[in-house]
Amino acid sequence: MSNPAHLSDYQNEIYLNALLQGALPPASTDLLGLEHAAVKVMDPDAVGYVVGCAGSGATNRANREAFDRWRIVPRMLRDVGERDQSCTVLGTPMPAPVLLGPVGVQSIIHRDGELATARAAASLGVPMVLSTASSHPLEEVAEANGAGPRWFQLYWPKDPDVTVSLLDRAKAAGYSVLVVTLDTRMLAWRPADLDRGFLPFLRQVGVANYFTDPAFAAGLAKPVEEDPIAALLHWVAIFADPSTTWADLAFLRRHWDGPIVVKGICSADDARLAVDHGMNGVVVSNHGGRQVDGAVAALDALPAVADAVADQIPVLFDSGVRTGADAVKALALGAQAVLLGRPYVYGLALAGQAGVEHVLRSLMAELDLTIGLAGYRSYTQLDRAALAGPTGS
Ligand code: FNR
Repeated sequence: MSNPAHLSDYQNEIYLNALLQGALPPASTDLLGLEHAAVKVMDPDAVGYVVGCAGSGATNRANREAFDRWRIVPRMLRDVGERDQSCTVLGTPMPAPVLLGPVGVQSIIHRDGELATARAAASLGVPMVLSTASSHPLEEVAEANGAGPRWFQLYWPKDPDVTVSLLDRAKAAGYSVLVVTLDTRMLAWRPADLDRGFLPFLRQVGVANYFTDPAFAAGLAKPVEEDPIAALLHWVAIFADPSTTWADLAFLRRHWDGPIVVKGICSADDARLAVDHGMNGVVVSNHGGRQVDGAVAALDALPAVADAVADQIPVLFDSGVRTGADAVKALALGAQAVLLGRPYVYGLALAGQAGVEHVLRSLMAELDLTIGLAGYRSYTQLDRAALAGPTGS
């Protein structure tokens, strides 16, 4: 047992619960193996949507292979008795450099959907990034999240009135940072969904924020309840605008007075453009291989982005993070924090709120242990010297 409290204490808790109460954790501690267990309990349409990727799945595979090419170089006999992974990113304190990334339509995974995720995040003080495509209205998720830290992810609508209304609502509901996803102005070619003809939105899941929005309602001839099909067609028409450019970010800047982070950055040039256009952070991400099939692995894109802008704005990272050791590699390559995607969704599928909490605690415990075992007290001490990689650096 360690004292003072460490994130790694979850390990002791698991062993002691088993010893004293015969109780095991609600899901596996092998976060990479969670997918296997989760697909057995998920609806086949949901499996296709969550596990599925764009095209051949090459980018999704590449995301994982990129992690495998980097190795941590453990250093010995350093004092790591007291460790602290807590940090503050864009004004948001967190117990470790880990956030729950935006994942829409969570009610296809578990009946409580984002409400369970919001409660889990709040119970651990981990920030949650709520998707525009949530299955519950952002105000209800905020209520479930209570005093927990929360950010709002924007799928930037074509209709400026709807955009402003969503931003106003998010602000009023206590979301402190805006994350604008740039890589999904059109939905990619996703065979798993196409073969089933399954798009959650067309089943009226993931449209809650639109269907409760006064500016969205103003664009309809009849209320949503009276003509849901017309409402869905209107949603299709205004969901995104593939003609927006960097200069248009000024519009969001005018209507959001907090930090703005752009998500989906895979090139150093785009990261510089983000800085030039007044953005306060970037998320290096390829959307978990769900958008451009054949796109560069997110981890391979990270070092150049970090070199280009990390001294000016926080560089966050997602796409392929499964374990605490993965997070360590991304942090050593220049990320200030990582966003977790599919693994917490699998936790949600397997055990609802408790499953999300378990996944988060497992990831943060392994992160803390890996950092300590590698000879560091804090992730802030990690840099590329902590790794041996493809370039031998
Ligand atoms: C996502 N992602 C996503 N991103 C976003 O900005 N808004 C969204 O609504 C969603 N929805 C969504 C649904 C599902 C089922 C998945 C799996 C992903 C992308 C997400 O934020 C993140 O970029 C990826 O999940 C990262 O890849 P891995 O680590 O989950 O493979």
